[in-house]
Amino acid sequence: CFSPELLPLFDLKGKVAVVVDVLRATSSIVTALASGVTHLVPFSELAECRAMVAQGYLTAAERDGRQAEGVDLGNSPFGYLDGVVPVRGRTVAITTTNGTRALHLSAAADEIVVGAFLNLGAVADYLRRLNKDVVVVCAGWKGHFCLEDTLFGGALAARLAEADGFDTTSSDATLAALDLWAAAAPDLAGYLLRSAHVRRLNSLEAHQDMDFCIREDEYHLVPVFRDGRIQSLEH
Ligand code: MLT
Repeated sequence: CFSPELLPLFDLKGKVAVVVDVLRATSSIVTALASGVTHLVPFSELAECRAMVAQGYLTAAERDGRQAEGVDLGNSPFGYLDGVVPVRGRTVAITTTNGTRALHLSAAADEIVVGAFLNLGAVADYLRRLNKDVVVVCAGWKGHFCLEDTLFGGALAARLAEADGFDTTSSDATLAALDLWAAAAPDLAGYLLRSAHVRRLNSLEAHQDMDFCIREDEYHLVPVFRDGRIQSLEH
């Protein structure tokens, strides 16, 4: 079965958690790994993240949509693509307002997968192979619902509905996410212009990030969060 649910109301034991923060933490993590970052370590606190410099890590930190002071990278996926900070072969300590918190909140799950539109197909293929119950953990914004993460849940449910063994009809949350996805998919960028975080990013002149983060299947990799590290399964 498959469900995008509200934490901490849901028991993740025995489940695969797909953690998603489309704008922008999980999109940036996927892009980082696709750009040659070896692994990332997510932190809740800024100070813990900054301290990883001593161990040779690059630091990436965002608070309220802006890059934090005194770190190498913010939370834009372009930080891993533009070459200003060389990232290939490096390790990254990362902290963001909601995304890294959602990763830690999912600790009880059997497996924690990092999902984004950028690696939607790869995640769907992996889940088909695992054939376990799946919960999409939407990072949202400071505990609140957000459109883009729920839309990812709908898009993933739609992909899995094509496969045998996934019941995407038994939970109201999944049905709602599928309906939302059906409504938004024909013009996802246009639909998301209304979302709170897109307005927040636009006000920070980061609207090109949204256009990038909603691209489907840009990268075929499956990052998993195991033993404190986020690493691509392909590595
Ligand atoms: C978060 O973790 O809250 C975000 O990814 C915010 C952002 O940088 O867009």
